Parts: sequence; structure tokens; C-alpha cells
Amino acid sequence: MKITKKVLRNVSLTAHPQGCAQYVSNQIEWVQAHAQVSDDSRYPASKNLVLPKRVLILGGSTGYGLSSRIVSAFAAQADTINVSFEREPSETRTATPGWYNTMAFEREARKAGHKAESIFGDAFSDETKQATAELIKSLLGQVDLVIYSLASPLRTDPKTGLTYRSVLKPIGKPFSALSVDLDCDVVKTATIEPAQGTQVEDTIKVMGGEDWSLWIDFLLQEKLLAEGAMVISYSYIGPKVTYPVYREGTIGKAKEDLEKTAAQLTKKLASIKGRAFVSVNKALVTRASAVIPVVPLYMAILYQVMKERDLHEHCTQQIYRLFTEKLFSGKAIPTDDEGRIRVDDWEMQDDIQSEVERRWDLQKEGEPLQGADLEGVYSEYEQIHGFGFDNIDYDEDVDPRII
Ligand code: NAI
Repeated sequence: MKITKKVLRNVSLTAHPQGCAQYVSNQIEWVQAHAQVSDDSRYPASKNLVLPKRVLILGGSTGYGLSSRIVSAFAAQADTINVSFEREPSETRTATPGWYNTMAFEREARKAGHKAESIFGDAFSDETKQATAELIKSLLGQVDLVIYSLASPLRTDPKTGLTYRSVLKPIGKPFSALSVDLDCDVVKTATIEPAQGTQVEDTIKVMGGEDWSLWIDFLLQEKLLAEGAMVISYSYIGPKVTYPVYREGTIGKAKEDLEKTAAQLTKKLASIKGRAFVSVNKALVTRASAVIPVVPLYMAILYQVMKERDLHEHCTQQIYRLFTEKLFSGKAIPTDDEGRIRVDDWEMQDDIQSEVERRWDLQKEGEPLQGADLEGVYSEYEQIHGFGFDNIDYDEDVDPRII
């Protein structure tokens, strides 16, 4: 079948197998081009650093989790296990991009001599945790690094069987701001109604620290964390303009909970001299972030401003910097006053943020975006689904089951 782009309400319904493989191989190539010798002081070579060799990534099939897996394997030369929730292809339907990414990554990782296996299942369930423990035992013995990079709309609590849904809403009052859809380039005002009933608590249940804690408790109990193991999860803060829908909204409450969990986990990990951190990352187009209202408009302006200053990064560059400059540089791990690692440091620079604010004020409802890089946002969104690569013939018939 011919595999074409199909997008509904900012969500892509299809993915291209060869395109996803191309996306993964581009990220791998970027890492390989820096890992041995690097002429860019912002991304120093990783080869002389002491890096983790056995890595578990929860949510390692797309976005920041996939990049964490790529950096682990191709900068740290690590063996990796990924746990993610993805749909397999059928004769008539494409897989989700994360499934194709995983197949492509594992092929390349094994070719390079690294072990690479995945469990496709619900990371929130006890069964998946148990299956992961078995796989760690048989494949790696223990792990030195656990990356928790899940972004999910729902979670079933394994103890009660109750299912909770996360929502992206302001708290207390509606929030209106300029926005732009990924399927039209005209600025319009979007109004988001505030969370109702238990939506704040429900979002914390899904995206807060509870499941992260359950994973670490379980891995500790099973003695699957090596001495000195590091445990990382990802958060976002962002600019004031998105505070009502993000940092001060339902998801922000969940992120606060996740950040508090890091300190609790560090205490639990003391017995193995391990540590837990939250890394605050840059706003980037991923399957999760594209659906947050207001955020694509912010990203389009941010991309333009950061590209003009040669500071724009993709997920893999962010994680490479996290590994080489923050977590495993051999120096003390730099954190902010709240104990968080900041790889959103360039995004949050005063000069970047004041320029973004200036351009935000220039936007007019009903008119195309100005001084922004909506093309760049579109193009990254296409590429994370395997579309928009010049070297791929999208008119060719492809069996979606072949990767
Ligand atoms: P993403 O949508 O690209 O990846 C989510 C991953 O979670 C995928 O591997 C998916 O398979 C997995 N997943 C979802 N539900 C699952 C389940 N029930 N069981 C197993 N796996 C499941 O998301 P993205 O953007 O990479 O987000 C990862 C983390 O990074 C999140 O905590 C997010 O808040 C954070 N972050 C994202 C930023 C962004 O701009 N995209 C910025 C800063 C932090």
C-alpha cells in the first residue's frame, strides 16, 4: 500500500516504516559524529567519560525516551531494554512510529554489537514490571541507569483496577491565548476550560511520580539496580505565557509531584548509593507535546529565535548534553535550587525569552504567524512519523509489516 500522511486534530494516524528508520539512523549518525571526536565544544566527545553500560528506558520508542536510548547505545555503548506501548502493523494498517523506530533502532544497535530488546506493554501494570524484571535478569543482570520517559493519556492503577485520565487544562478559570493548529498556519484564539471534578488529582495519578516510584521500589526489591545506579525522569517548565495551561495547570501539578518524587527516591536509593534526578528539558515537537494547546505556537516562535542564534536542538542533542555535560561529566551534577537538572537552560536564557515575548506580541488573530518557524515545527512533526525525507519515495507501494 501507499503510505501517506493522515493527520486528525494534530495527531498523525499513520507512520512510514522506512521514514522512521531514516529518522532513527539520522539521530544515530549525529551521536556517532560526536561520540569519538567532536569539534563542537557544546557537545564534547563522550568516549573518555564513565557512562552507564546497562540501561532501562521506560517509554524508549519515541521522543525523549528514544533519544535516551540512542545516546545510551551509541555514545555510552550501552546495552538497552525499552518498555513502551505501541501498535504493531497489519497488512492494511501502519504501526505506530514507536514500533518502527524500535525495530530500526534494535537492528542498528545489534549491528554495532549492543544488546537491545523491548517489551511492548502497559508500563503501569504489574505484569509488564514483572516481565521487565525477567528480561533484565536474563539479558543484563542489573541496570546502571533507569530513564522514565512515559507520556500517557491514561493509567490503570494496578492495585485498584481504576483507570485515570490525564488532561491538559488550566486550574480555577478558563485560559484564552493565541494558538495555531498544525494543520493550518493562521493564528487564532484558543480557550481552554478549567479542570473539573477530580481532573487535577487524576492527572497527577497518570503523569505524577507514583508509577515512577512503583518501578524503582520494584527494581530495588528485585535487586536489579546496580550499586550507584542513576534514575532519571523528565519534566518541563516553559515560559510564563504557557503557565496557565502547562506549569500552573493540571500537568504542572503532576510535574511538581514527579519532581518531589526524585528526592524521595534518592533516599530509597541510598542503600545502593544510587541517586534520582528530574531533568527539565526543552520544548520540542513530540507526539505528546504537539497536542498541547498554545504550545505549537510557542514552539514555532522559539524554534525561529533559537535557530537564529544557533541554539536550536533536537531531542537527541538535548539528551547527549544531559549525559555528557550534566549527569556523567565526571564533575558534580549541576542542579537548580529545587535539585533539578536544567537542559532547558538555553531555551530559558533571558535573551531568548525576551525575544520570544516580543514576537508573541506581534501576532494577530486571523493572520499567518510572523517571525516564527512553523515550517520547522511541521517538518519535525512529519519526520517523527517518518514523512518528509527527500530520499524516500512516498509514492512507492510498501508493505507496512516490512521494516
Ligand atoms: P512521546 O509521546 O514521544 O513518548 C512517550 C513514550 O511513552 C512512548 O515511548 C510511548 O510508547 C510510551 N508510553 C506511553 N504510554 C505508555 C504505557 N502505558 N506503557 C508503556 N509505554 C507507554 O513523549 P515525550 O514528549 O518524549 O515525553 C516524554 C517525557 O518527556 C514526558 O515526561 C514529558 O512530559 C517530558 N518532556 C517533554 C517535552 C516536550 O516538549 N516534548 C519537554 C520536556 C519534558
